[in-house]
Amino acid sequence: MAEKEVTLSVIKADVGSFVGHVQAHPDMLAVIRKELGKAKDEGLITDFYVANVGDDIELIMTHYRGDNNEQIHKLAWDAFLAATAVAQELKLYAAGQDLLSDSFAGNMKGLGPGVAEMTFAERPSEPIVIFMADKTDPGAWNLPLYKMFADPFNTIGLIIDPKMHDGFKFEVHDLVKHCKVTFTLPEELYDMLVLIGSPGRYCIKHVYARRNQEIAAVTSTQRLNLMAGRYIGKDDPVCIVRCQSGLPAVGEVLEAFAQPHLVAGWMRGSHWGPLLPVPEQESRPTRFDGPARVVALGFQLCHGRLIGPQDFFADVAFDRVREQVLELADQLRRLGPFEPHRLAQDQLEYTTLPLVAKKLEGRFEAL
Ligand code: 13P
Ligand code: 13P
Ligand code: MG
Ligand code: MG
Repeated sequence: MAEKEVTLSVIKADVGSFVGHVQAHPDMLAVIRKELGKAKDEGLITDFYVANVGDDIELIMTHYRGDNNEQIHKLAWDAFLAATAVAQELKLYAAGQDLLSDSFAGNMKGLGPGVAEMTFAERPSEPIVIFMADKTDPGAWNLPLYKMFADPFNTIGLIIDPKMHDGFKFEVHDLVKHCKVTFTLPEELYDMLVLIGSPGRYCIKHVYARRNQEIAAVTSTQRLNLMAGRYIGKDDPVCIVRCQSGLPAVGEVLEAFAQPHLVAGWMRGSHWGPLLPVPEQESRPTRFDGPARVVALGFQLCHGRLIGPQDFFADVAFDRVREQVLELADQLRRLGPFEPHRLAQDQLEYTTLPLVAKKLEGRFEAL
C-alpha cells in the first residue's frame, strides 16, 4: 500500500535576540524544543528539528496533516509565544519582533512568521535540503533557484539526466499586486527572467518537475514590512528543495551558492550585500549587522523521520566563496550611504526613509 503523503513544514520567526540582532538565545530554543517535543509525544507531529540562523528560529517539522494545517500552525505560534516570553524576561532585543498580531487566527497568513510547506509521497529515498537565511528577504532565493532548476551551467542534470530533460515549472508571485503566474521552462525562460530579475517584487514560490508535476521546491514569501506598512525587521526567508532521482543532485543544489550574489537586507534592511554561506554555528551576523547569512541543512526523510542534519556549508569547499563574499562586502561598504550599496529609493519605502521624507516635506521649493 502507498504510504500516506507526508508534510514538511518549515515555520520561522525572529522573536528576540542577543546581542542586538545577532542570535536567538539558547533559552529560547530550549522552550521551543520542549513545546515541539510534547507535540511529538502526543502524535501531532512525527519529528522536528529546531534550527537557529542569526536572530531567526526555524521550526522544521514533519507530520501527516497537510499544508496550512491549523493545529500545526497553532503549535508553531504557541512555541514562538513561549520563546517571546523568555526574550522579554531576559530583556533581549526586539522581543516578539515578527509577531504582528496578539492572537492566532487559523493559520500563519498575515501574522508575521514565514512559512514554507510541501506535501508529497515519500520516495524510496528522499534527500531534502533546507535553506535558511538571515538579514535578507524572499527574493534572495530567485537567483539560486534559477540556477538549480534552469541553468545547465550549474545543473548538468538538465542536459544529461533523461528524467530532468523536460525541465521545470516555476510559480512566481508578485508580492506587491498579490497575484501569481506559472512559467514552463526552458521555453519561457526569458519571460520569467524579466520578472525574477527584480527580486524585491517577484519571488519564486514553487518549483514543479514538468515530467510528473511533483513538487520540487517551495519558499517562504512573507513580506513583513509590506504587511505592517512600516519597517519591522527583514523577512528572513526559508526554502525547501527535494533532491536526486529526477531532481537536481544535492551537489547541484549546493553549487548555486558557490559564487557570491548580492541580496537586499543588510543593516536596517536597507542595503545590498553579498550572501555568505556558513554552517549553522557561524550564522552570527555581526559586521554592519551582516553580511546576510545562508545555512543549508540536509535531511533524509524516513517515514516522516528527519535523519540529519548534514550541515553542508561547513565544508571547506565553500571557503573560497566566503573569501569572495568578504571582498565584495569590503567594496560595497566603501560606498557608505550611497546607492547601489543603499537600496534604491522605491525599495526603501518600508524602511527608515519615509520619516525623513516627511520631515522635509514643506522645505522643497519649486525650481
Ligand atoms: P540520481 O539520478 O540517483 O539522483 O544520481 C545523480 C547523482 O547523484 C550524480 O551526482
Ligand atoms: P532582522 O530582520 O534579522 O531582525 O534584522 C533587523 C535589522 O535591521 C538589522 O540591521
Ligand atoms: Mg531581529
Ligand atoms: Mg533576522
